[in-house]
This record gives sequence, structure tokens and C-alpha cells, in this order.
Amino acid sequence: MCGIIGYSGHRPAVPLVLEGLRRLEYRGYDSSGLAYAQAGGLRVIRAPGKLGALEDRVASEPNLLATTGMGHTRWATHGLPVERNAHPHMDEGRTLALVHNGIIENFQEIRSELAAGGCRFQSDTDTEALACLIARERRSAPSLLEAFARALRRARGAYAVVMMAAEEPDTMYAARLSAPLLLGVGAGECFVASDIPAFLPYTREVVFLEDGEVARIHGSGWELLRLDDLAPLVRMPQHIAWDMQAAAKDGYKHFMLKEIMEQPRVVADCLSGRVAGGRVLLPELDNLPVPARLRVVACGTSYNAGLWARHLLEGQGGVPADVEIASEFRYRRPLLEPEECVLVISQSGETADTLAALRLARSRGCRVIGLCNVVGSSIAREADAVLYTQAGPEISVASTKAMCSQMALLVLLAIYYGQRRGLAGTESSALLDALHAVPVMLRENLPSLRETAARLARRFAGARSFFYLGRGPAYALAQEGALKLKELSYIHAEGYAAGEMKHGPIALVDPDFPSFVLALDDPFLPKVLSNIEQVQARQGKVIALMQRRPPGAPADAPVGALPSPEVDEPWYLPAAHPLTAAFLALPALQLFSYEMADYLGKDVDQPRNLAKSVTVE
Ligand code: F6R
Repeated sequence: MCGIIGYSGHRPAVPLVLEGLRRLEYRGYDSSGLAYAQAGGLRVIRAPGKLGALEDRVASEPNLLATTGMGHTRWATHGLPVERNAHPHMDEGRTLALVHNGIIENFQEIRSELAAGGCRFQSDTDTEALACLIARERRSAPSLLEAFARALRRARGAYAVVMMAAEEPDTMYAARLSAPLLLGVGAGECFVASDIPAFLPYTREVVFLEDGEVARIHGSGWELLRLDDLAPLVRMPQHIAWDMQAAAKDGYKHFMLKEIMEQPRVVADCLSGRVAGGRVLLPELDNLPVPARLRVVACGTSYNAGLWARHLLEGQGGVPADVEIASEFRYRRPLLEPEECVLVISQSGETADTLAALRLARSRGCRVIGLCNVVGSSIAREADAVLYTQAGPEISVASTKAMCSQMALLVLLAIYYGQRRGLAGTESSALLDALHAVPVMLRENLPSLRETAARLARRFAGARSFFYLGRGPAYALAQEGALKLKELSYIHAEGYAAGEMKHGPIALVDPDFPSFVLALDDPFLPKVLSNIEQVQARQGKVIALMQRRPPGAPADAPVGALPSPEVDEPWYLPAAHPLTAAFLALPALQLFSYEMADYLGKDVDQPRNLAKSVTVE
């Protein structure tokens, strides 16, 4: 959603805040703004649009010497993405400024109450209502801190907020409820931000704020207090191992391309230390029983990873598995038994619906396993056990390497459960071999996959709609391919189980409605080949991801033995185990969407209307 950065220390704050916002822009990019103390008051500068517009406005400001300041990059929830709705928001008397990520659900009630008392608002936002409430509380509260806390105790919903006030120009106050916020602690300086990359060049010492906590931040230190009674809390900073290079583009044109190309390393890191002597080691789970049933809950790309893994969790792990969209699960009043386990998958670990699903499961007495990328995220902290994907920071709004790492870890989880249940060893060692082959296969094939993707993107750039078709685990990959195409290039795309086409959707097929088919060398292949024939018989153009037969392959090998249709655009992947092939098909789909979006001149890393880390409903 929105991104927040605040700084107090010995350096000029404004350039540092702008730099932090640049690294947080992936979280939202409708408008941005910053605040700093100046001449006994607060100066607020805001601009609609991308961060460059704010930078232009700041460039003409004289005397940017303040050493405390805060900034915000917005993804609109309340009110249009125009300047008056951009953050920071001030109270009527301009005594304080507030930046906010989240939604104050009872803001209308607060706003009406303040309006009845004569308050006039400049914006349509929930944030301004909160800023005005703090200012009103300040009239009777003994301190600014107390006024801040009193107002927040009334707020319902989700928030991460940072406040500056003219009366204490070198101090910031921060608090969170169901939205990420953390402190970065340096020597004689302190940061507060929505995400670690915002301050990574300056410090790797991080303090994670918890729900219901308030922080007071100034150059010479920081304090943590309980929101309820302002009792002090003690917490040590944690050291974060990420480095700056991991959060930079590294010579690639876009973060998305860099992150796709990182996938060989991501799979290798995921495997490292987790397999020994043919056994999968997941010590994080050793104290939990093998569940009677696994409910996999996630959103978007993380959901597709769960859908892909379902076959393995059941077939290899021997655990019945359902896969659900978090925003549906949480409101469905699911019947959950205590011996079931809920597996929540989330790159960010902050997705509001997934977090709510976790809390629902815990309230029903179920154990929850989190599969997350961001260390110390809300889901990671609230789950009974957490498996970290270790993919490193994912900056591009469209998720790529995170899915690859989730798939790798889910394969390990399936084998791990299978081993604990004493299921057959030969299949699991074939799967482990196939997984170990992935990093090298990816490294060797990514360049040619990109070339083919670029050629096909140019050929099909005029299409208005696409089908993505697959069966079995490849159905989940088809869903992911369609998601990537629509979110990046704004071309309509639908992922379908190939066998469903004949039940209606095939009516749409004509020479201008192409299909992207996953025809991998797995047991579903014969059926998929006949689905391709059905589409081509209606003059639909087909791109088919297929695998080459190795020279001298036995006659009963699936593809060689089948009369395969003449596909318009066969896109050959190397012959490999179906598991390895899935890890090659994923970047093929990602690269096709990447090249299409780039060719069409779309904003690859920051597609319109989207935000990384969806911390609102
Ligand atoms: C798509 C994408 C989203 C996320 C979804 C869940 O490219 O990035 O669909 O996968 O918002 O996010 P996490 O995994 O952070 O819970």
C-alpha cells in the first residue's frame, strides 16, 4: 500500500527522506509528500503523480537544513489521487503533520464529530480526520505523546502512522495496528519506515513495532511504549543480513527483469541447508504434528504457488490439501478442526486478508504455518512456525522470484511430510534430484527464454485477449501467466483448466483470440494436446510451451509416442523431469509478460492501480 519513511539525526533529512521514498515507491505511487520543521513551524510539500513530481517541487526550496523529516508515497484508498489527498496531512491549525498507511474504518464517525465542533477539512481522507483528532486531544492532554495515544486508542481498522509536530520539531511519534512499521537504529540517528530497504544504506539494526505499540523517535535515541497505558517496553534491535546490492537494479532495465534472472540463485538458496542424506530438513516444523488436513490460504501469485503445490502436498506428502483465496476464506466461516493446519503463503507477510485468515485460524485453535519472504513481518511473527523463502527483497510490484521460491519450499514441504509419514523413498529422491537440477537448468536457459519471449511478445502485441491453459499443476501456472499478463500489459487474460474450455469459454476463440498453452511432458500431456487441437480447429492461434524429446528417447516416451498437433508457435523447453520443467515454464510466462509490457511501453515495475503489499481489504 503506502510507503512511509521518517528520519531524525545529524544529516539533512529532506534528501534522505526522498531517497527512502524512492526505495518505497513500489508500495504506492499515486502521489507523495514530505514534512520537515522550519522556522518554528512545519513545512509540508506534496505532489500528485510519481515521485519525480515531488522531487521537482523540493528542488526549488531554499534552506533544506532540517535534520528531522518524514515522507509518504501513496496508494489511494480514500479520495482521488490528487494533491489535496496526498500525505502528510495537517490539522486545521497546522500544528502537526501525519503520514499514514492503512484505513481508519471509523473515520466518518470521527470526522462528523470534529465537523460538529467546527473543524473544516481540506481533503477526503481518513488520515486528516486522525490528524485533527490528535490536535483536538492536545488541547486537554498533558503532552503530545498522550494526545497521540488518546486519538489512536479511538481508531479502528489498520494503520501505521508517523507524526511530527511544531512544538517538538526534533521528534517523531509512530504507531502501528495491522500495518507494517519498523525502526532503523543508527549511530546518533534513527529511522522509521514501512520496509527495510528505505533505510538499508544507513543501518541494518532494526526494531519491529508490534500492534498496540507507540515509538518516540529522535536523533539521540528511541523509546517504545504500550499504547494502552504508555508503559515503557524493552526490545533489542535485530540485525538484518540484506545488503544494498540486493535492493538495487544491478544494471538491469527493471527490477522485474533482475528478479526473474535471480531465480537460479533463489532456488539454490532455498535448498541450501535443507536437504541432507536424501532427507528434507525443516526443523522449524519438527515440533508440530503432521496435519490431518492442510488448508493453504493466500492471495494473488502466492495463491497460485499454493494451487501448484496442492498435487505434491497430497500426492507426495500424503496430506489432504485445500487451497483458498484468503479474502474468501476469512469471511466464509470455514469449519476448522484443531488437528488441521493452516498454511498461509505471503511474500510480504503483511497482506491484510492473509493475516486475517491466519488470525481466524488461530482463534479456532488451528496451528498456523507461515511461508514468508520478509523476515519479521506480521505473518512471520504471528504464525506458530515460519518457513522463510529467503528470496531477498522483491521490489517489482509484480511478484516473480517470490513465487519461484515458494514453489521450491512447497516441494520440500511435501517431501518432508511424506518422509515423516514414511511414504515411499524413490519418488521423493527423484523429486529432490529434479529440484537440485533447477538452478543450473534455469541459469542455462533464461537467456534463450528471454529471446523467445521477446519475439513472441512482438508477434502477439496486438491481441486484446488471451487464454492461458493448463491441466494439473500447470493449471496453476496458467493462472499465474494470465495474472502476469493482465497486471503488466493491461491485456485481458484468463487462466483456465484446459479441460473446462469445451464447457463454454471455447466460444470466444477466433483468429484474434490467442491461447497460451502449457503442454509439459507430464501425465496430462495427451489431454492437453487434444485441447490444443480443439482450439486450433476454431482457428485460434496457439503458443504452446512444450518439451523437446532427448535424442534417442525410448519409443514409449510420452511426446514421441503421440501425434502432436502442428502448433502455431511451439516454444520448446529442454527435456527434463516435470518438476524441473515447471520451474522453467514459470520464467517463460514471466518473461513473456515482461517483454510484452516493455514493448507496449508500460510501466513494468509499477503497473497502474497496483501496490506491493496489500495491507488493506
Ligand atoms: C502479483 C502480485 C500479487 C501478490 C498478492 C499477495 O504479481 O504480486 O498478486 O502475490 O498481493 O501478496 P503477498 O504474497 O505479499 O501476500
